[in-house]
Amino acid sequence: MEMPSVFVARKLPEEVLKALRTFADVEMWDKEDEVCPRDLLLEKAKTSDALLTMLSDQVDKELLDACEGVKVIANLAVGYDNVDVEYAKEKGIIITNTPDVLTETTADLTFLLLMSAARRVTEAAAYIKEGKWTSWSPMLLAGADVHHKTIGIVGMGNIGRAVAKRAKGFDMNILYHNRSRDTEAEESLGAEYRSFEDLLQASDFVVCMTPLTSETKGMFDAGAFKKMKREAIFVNTSRGGTVVEEDLIAALRNGVIAGAGLDVFENEPIRADHPILQLENAVALPHIGSATRETRFAMMACSIENIKQVLEGEKPLTPVR
Ligand code: DGY
Repeated sequence: MEMPSVFVARKLPEEVLKALRTFADVEMWDKEDEVCPRDLLLEKAKTSDALLTMLSDQVDKELLDACEGVKVIANLAVGYDNVDVEYAKEKGIIITNTPDVLTETTADLTFLLLMSAARRVTEAAAYIKEGKWTSWSPMLLAGADVHHKTIGIVGMGNIGRAVAKRAKGFDMNILYHNRSRDTEAEESLGAEYRSFEDLLQASDFVVCMTPLTSETKGMFDAGAFKKMKREAIFVNTSRGGTVVEEDLIAALRNGVIAGAGLDVFENEPIRADHPILQLENAVALPHIGSATRETRFAMMACSIENIKQVLEGEKPLTPVR
């Protein structure tokens, strides 16, 4: 019997592909660090039964229209702002994502960014490497405390809650803003609900964990940064589109806020001459929130299982609804 065909839009490790090959004929864009060329993706959409896409692939109307026999598109990420979910639904194509498996790993990196920005870790590492360390000095690279401070989490989903759990371990005062109240986080973590404005004004660390939607696009703009404390540190491991980047750069440059820890940007990848990289008070990482070996393998396994389920006529594990 002929096996269904799956196109994988990025080179994945051989052991992962092995699992896919047990139930499908697999074709793959064979580069690890390069986005699959659009023409190739459009061509494979015509002939495949399933696609495994990355967050850097635009699953838009054009691509969905090209899908002649595609039943499922498994997006290798929890976020799916690169996918036109509504149109996929109209076309009867199932979209899946990879929630849960990356929650703790992404929360770890969020906290790492928060601490790195507070304690000036990248500046300090560069200082020692550049041979500038001549003596212990009372105020050398003095940063800000994290413990007992106030963290404001915007977007209290699974990852937001996992960040709050870490904050509780640091005896932080936890505020959150969300579309709906999270009574569980309030009871178990002592998190307090605040309006967006109140949260901005009261937090020492403002952490963006909200997905990118038409409502959250650009929500961190000049007005938002102005409401924050001058000592505030802004952290974003969600999506760069939630921030008006030039406003953030101006706020960091002009001392409107004290610092930032960023794993995501408006247009990724950013280049070495991006203005954010010229700022000493910003710690920038190349979108590695979920990048541990364990978690990336778990995300790939989740995507493969979703494809398998759909191609076998079953319900996927983690459909985007
Ligand atoms: C996601 O899954 O949405 C992250 O941004 C990448 O791991």
